[in-house]
Amino acid sequence: MKIITKNELETKAFAKKLAGLLEPGTTILLEGQLGAGKTTFTKGIADGLGIQRIIKSPTYTLIKEYTDGVLPLYHMDLYRLEDAEDEDLGLDEYFYGDGISIVEWGSFMEEDLPNEYLSVHFKVLNNSDKRELLIQAKGKRYEKIMERLENE
Ligand SMILES: Nc1ncnc2c1ncn2[C@@H]1O[C@H](COP(=O)(O)OP(=O)(O)OP(=O)(O)O)[C@@H](O)[C@H]1O
Ligand SMILES: [Mg+2]
Repeated sequence: MKIITKNELETKAFAKKLAGLLEPGTTILLEGQLGAGKTTFTKGIADGLGIQRIIKSPTYTLIKEYTDGVLPLYHMDLYRLEDAEDEDLGLDEYFYGDGISIVEWGSFMEEDLPNEYLSVHFKVLNNSDKRELLIQAKGKRYEKIMERLENE
């Protein structure tokens, strides 16, 4: 599934809609260059979950937990792992827990990611505010979520 958003608000609105379709223990991988809109998208998800706290990219910690919404949100940004050692981060506890895990820069830690997930690839279109979002599902559960998303 592919959509184009014209500005930050449209990206947030789309993410908010998706948030309503998520269940405990689901994972979303966000891919795309610096400034593509991954954290912006995460803010939309948080809004959809009723989280009031302000979402900031976890710069000094790899993971931030938001537990004031209808489901816990685990926001991971693995960017700083680029040249990191392969220590066990214990991420499974989050992925297979009772919340929604959102991962920025998961490509830096591919071995530790779940086998099934929804992924969103962000592409900046001609240096503008336009973004192309390519959404892909891996696994039955996520195919169902995407089907429902397409039908909305
Ligand atoms: N259509 C759009 N969707 C999302 N963000 C947009 C859009 N148009 C413009 N922007 C702007 O692009 C920037 C996206 O920044 P954001 O922090 O979300 O990127 P990121 O992908 O998380 O980057 P990083 O890899 O550095 O964490 C914001 O300043 C936002 O306002
Ligand atoms: Mg970010």
